Amino acid sequence: MQQMLMPLDARVYVAGHRGLVGSAIYRALVGGGYTNILTRTHAELDLTDAAAVESFFATEKPEFVFLAAAKVGGILANNTYPADFIRVNLAIQSNVIDAAYRHGVQRLLFLGSSCIYPKFAPQPMPESCLLTGELEPTNRAYALAKIAGIEMCWSYNRQYGTRFVAAMPTNLYGPNDNFDLNNSHVLPALIRKAAQAKRTGSRELTVWGSGTPRRELLYSDDLAEACLFLISLDEDRFGSLLSETEPPLINIGTGEDVTIRELAELVSQVVGFNGELVFDASKPDGTPRKLMDVSKLHALGWKHSVALHEGISKTWKFVADQF
Ligand SMILES: NC(=O)c1ccc[n+]([C@@H]2O[C@H](COP(=O)([O-])OP(=O)(O)OC[C@H]3O[C@@H](n4cnc5c(N)ncnc54)[C@H](OP(=O)(O)O)[C@@H]3O)[C@@H](O)[C@H]2O)c1
Repeated sequence: MQQMLMPLDARVYVAGHRGLVGSAIYRALVGGGYTNILTRTHAELDLTDAAAVESFFATEKPEFVFLAAAKVGGILANNTYPADFIRVNLAIQSNVIDAAYRHGVQRLLFLGSSCIYPKFAPQPMPESCLLTGELEPTNRAYALAKIAGIEMCWSYNRQYGTRFVAAMPTNLYGPNDNFDLNNSHVLPALIRKAAQAKRTGSRELTVWGSGTPRRELLYSDDLAEACLFLISLDEDRFGSLLSETEPPLINIGTGEDVTIRELAELVSQVVGFNGELVFDASKPDGTPRKLMDVSKLHALGWKHSVALHEGISKTWKFVADQF
């Protein structure tokens, strides 16, 4: 019988298992029949504490690691607390990646985000545009920490022969998202606003900006499937991600985007808001387009399966009675 690359009884550590990404990976592992999933909450294990991380790896000896723990926030938080964003993320990555190497982890998947790419990157953005231009200033500290994480994976692979890969997901959405109107991303904010408008009988739903920017969105369970797919790739295909000349970097997305107007229309339909959409052009639009080039991922054999309408419906079902 062929040996599975990540056997069902492998010791798999999901760092950040209560976050949007980590919880989706955790659910996918449970659903996939994995029986030795290791987790620690932030309170149980502060990943910025090198000694605590060392002790955890020494005791639990994980064989596979998903590094989905990070200090994450919107534009305002990133812009207000850049020192915290760079310090915490560098510390988490540095501690976990180094411990993974020293304790013989077989494969590690480090999660970053599309903000690592230059502000004026070509669209769709290929992995090769990393470090080819200026970053968006508002989340520069966070992006640089993530770029350092990619470089760390690559450096450890080159110096120590580890098998660490960095995956950069596009904008995600799903059940465990942040729906706080003050600092949430565009889709959860639209869902909440549409729900409120429906509940209060309002005839209008105000959407920030002109409605013309285009955004790509990936359902969190699809991302989790992609992460499991990548970490379990056969040696040939996994090895194709590890090279002396290019960072071990791979984009995860759908390769498809919609305008904010189209997104607002979809949300209204799902939530059952029948009023009018009003676009407040006095609010900033942000980047006109942000789309991942996912040809590398498609060539490896993975494609998303949850269409946007279906993903929004699933997310709405999860939060409908809260708003
Ligand atoms: N959400 C997106 O749209 C998106 C898109 C692309 C990429 N990503 C990437 O995916 C990764 C995870 O993002 P996410 O959206 O899942 O974030 P999240 O929901 O905020 O989850 C992050 C998790 O990390 C934990 N954590 C933070 N600091 C920690 C520490 N010092 N020690 C231990 N645990 C700590 C948090 O626990 P506490 O909450 O208890 O602190 C939380 O469970 C990030 O690298 C992010 O860049 C996210």
